[in-house]
Amino acid sequence: MSEPVSPGVPRHVAFDVPRHVAIIMDGNGRWAKARGLPRVAGHREGAKAVRRTIQAAIDHGVPYLTLFAFSSENWQRPADEVADLTFLMKHYLRNELAELHEKGVRLRVIGERERFGPALAEELDAAERKTASNTKLTLVMAISYGGRAEIVTAVKRAMLAGVSPQEITEQSFSGFLSTADLPDPDLLIRTSGEQRVSNFLLWQIAYAEILFTPGLWPDFGAAEFAAALENYATRERRFGARPV
Ligand code: FPP
Repeated sequence: MSEPVSPGVPRHVAFDVPRHVAIIMDGNGRWAKARGLPRVAGHREGAKAVRRTIQAAIDHGVPYLTLFAFSSENWQRPADEVADLTFLMKHYLRNELAELHEKGVRLRVIGERERFGPALAEELDAAERKTASNTKLTLVMAISYGGRAEIVTAVKRAMLAGVSPQEITEQSFSGFLSTADLPDPDLLIRTSGEQRVSNFLLWQIAYAEILFTPGLWPDFGAAEFAAALENYATRERRFGARPV
């Protein structure tokens, strides 16, 4: 158990940190619009919030952090916005990878990376290989990711592997998902006040605690992350059973 580092929480108050936090980073466009800026400015600020959030996860001793950076539905956005987001992800990877590696971050990518073209897909493969043995934080980037598509792909994989209906259990099926080596999220956060899960980790969030926060993603940082963990600590998790 790690010590809380929230400014609002006395250091002697320790609480269970979630093992896996997943975040739907929403509100970049509204952040930019409120300032009369182009949407890309919101995404750029969003990338800074990504950096702050990774550091906050490390500071709190959260071992798994999953960020929804690009959904399979985001391909429907105008081509210039898709290009801006792709550029930002590339730029982020090139600029931050060395530092992430130094901090002990293991990068995992889920989603259809090949849709971004072979160059970025290969860079992502290389980044995963380079950081594979790091243990401080597993950072899962969901890009061109959709929960339903992931489940359909898992069904196909199981069938191709010749798994019989009798052999399919919840546990064995999980092994065919892209998150096979990851624990399920304990806490799912969505920023910007929207209250939807938007096709994110549909199988994996079955028992996640969900927190919808009003602030926009570019304003997210250490204080908001700490507040989310404090909120999580007040939840009574029953997993369908009766309260103790
Ligand atoms: C939602 O805001 C956010 C996204 C579609 C993309 C998230 C991208 C980033 C945080 C920046 C780049 C990522 C990395 C990993 C460097 P929105 O555009 O839907 O906002 P709106 O609902 O206010 O329009």
